[in-house]
Amino acid sequence: MKKITANELRRLYIDFFVGKHDHAEIPSSSLIPENDPTVLFTTAGMHPLVPFLLGEAHPSGRRLVNVQKCIRTGDVDEVGDDTHLTFFEMLGNWSLGDYFKKDAIKMSFEFLTSSREASGLGLELERLAFTCFEGDKNAPRDEEAFNAWCELGVSEDRIAYLPKSENWWGPAGQTGPCGPDTEMFYWNSDKPVPTKFDPEDDTWVEIWNNVFMEYNKNEDGSYSELEQKNIDTGLGFERVFALMNGVRTAYETELFEEAVEAVRSLGGYDIGDAEPSDELVVSERVVCDHLRAATFILGDPMGVTPSNTDQGYVLRMLIRRAIRHGRKLGIEGEFVRKIAGIYVRYYGDAYPELIDNQEKIFEELVREEEQFGKTLEKGLREVEKCCSDDLLGGGFAFYMYETYGFPPEMTLEEIRKDSGLAGKLDEKKFWKEFEEALEAHKAKSRTGAEQKFSGGLADDSESVTRLHTATHLLHKALKQVLGDHVAQKGSNITSERLRFDFTHDEKMTPEQKEEVEKIVNEQIEADLPITCEEMTVEDAKKAGAIGLFESKYGDKVKVYTVGSKDAFSKEICGGPHVSGTGELGKFKIKKEESSSRGVRRIKAVLS
Ligand code: ALA
Repeated sequence: MKKITANELRRLYIDFFVGKHDHAEIPSSSLIPENDPTVLFTTAGMHPLVPFLLGEAHPSGRRLVNVQKCIRTGDVDEVGDDTHLTFFEMLGNWSLGDYFKKDAIKMSFEFLTSSREASGLGLELERLAFTCFEGDKNAPRDEEAFNAWCELGVSEDRIAYLPKSENWWGPAGQTGPCGPDTEMFYWNSDKPVPTKFDPEDDTWVEIWNNVFMEYNKNEDGSYSELEQKNIDTGLGFERVFALMNGVRTAYETELFEEAVEAVRSLGGYDIGDAEPSDELVVSERVVCDHLRAATFILGDPMGVTPSNTDQGYVLRMLIRRAIRHGRKLGIEGEFVRKIAGIYVRYYGDAYPELIDNQEKIFEELVREEEQFGKTLEKGLREVEKCCSDDLLGGGFAFYMYETYGFPPEMTLEEIRKDSGLAGKLDEKKFWKEFEEALEAHKAKSRTGAEQKFSGGLADDSESVTRLHTATHLLHKALKQVLGDHVAQKGSNITSERLRFDFTHDEKMTPEQKEEVEKIVNEQIEADLPITCEEMTVEDAKKAGAIGLFESKYGDKVKVYTVGSKDAFSKEICGGPHVSGTGELGKFKIKKEESSSRGVRRIKAVLS
């Protein structure tokens, strides 16, 4: 197969859908979801598009195509194998109430099997297999998808029907649009391709998912048909890139090449003919994977910094795990900045935000590495002080993890070093107790990490919409009271409260907070109309709109205006919003605190 570069592969996909099937290219959204309380990170291309999947008109039309940056932490323990990655790119084509199942399948088939000259991947049909939804009490067996594949020449032996756990995509346990899907697999091996497809055999690598979003999951758990039927697809960029280059894993492609080499030379070890399951290989991959994810999180326009809550906590754990595995590989001294520098250079073309934010990326990584060094010292002293038998219990390891971010593997190592204790160690019991303590903590934790990691849809309830509009008022009021340097750094809304992060160096005074509340409440009392216009980014800038001008190729953006003549606020945003500020009720700031250096965080409610 003719090799392909990463830039060429992204282009091939976009050009296929733009050139052959009339889609409009839209840019990748931020890794940090705005206005979606159900997830900490964008875990799939659909999160930023939720309002449009629910029926709002998208400024670029009904057929869209993009490359979306994603983070998934749910399978973080699987990282190190050939396919699981924390950060990845997802290629997606979208129909917002336009084409549906049969056409989507046809387009996928055409892209997979047409020759490179004809803008396809040129994969052999012989190496492909497919799954379809087998049906249950809520929705029928997806014979339409099955037949669509057969009509294109796929053998029935290569299509498997699977249950909802495998072939259904949508909000986990929540309400919202969802539907059956069909997944595409590739036989990525030199071994002969079996005639019959066995979805359990992981030589078949899942590469693409087409979701037929045709149902809405209701509060009582029932499903009703959606008015607007959508197509949501996700093609795993790294997986396809690996197979297009004739290797089994993205770690052996240009995406990771330099980082892997640097880690090997820093560690000074010889990989020899280590098997993928060797600890050495796993640690090397964890370092490369986690630092790539950390670089993208820190480099995101809505970037977060390491902290003990939400996204900041995930970021901190990724960096610390990377350092930890780096030590296992024999890397001494500071090294994370070096690896991040490789990614900034390599990805800078496709993701210029990494170049723009490189100082911040490096600074934060170095700081975190230093801090982790101190933490480890403190942690080790505590371990030494601890009554030795307590060490054996996973509960103590959890305390260390919680209090110092001290990885449980390190507590284990300390036990192994002590000959008196090592003999008494029951590793199974240790991990069980650790997991139990962790679970108990999670159940209590407000963020419910597990649930947030699992992905899903925004709660599009009225209160989220009201709080979203209130966020625009707050943003503008902050600029008026504190100055024009105030810029949005993040936003997160649940049905109870809004949270808004913005650049500002000092704690707000009580008077400033009161003034901001007063301005927002005045706009609410004036019951100002809210209108939406579509315009080019340039026109939006000219009109004085604030917000994230992250559009790279996207022609048009939506600008929401609050107030008519002498508008109070104009902001670029995907919506949705209420139609008049009178619907908001009373606005109150509950908390104003530091979020990270130079960034303040406000939590506020409407009553
Ligand atoms: N949203 C679908 C997925 O992530 C395409 O698999």
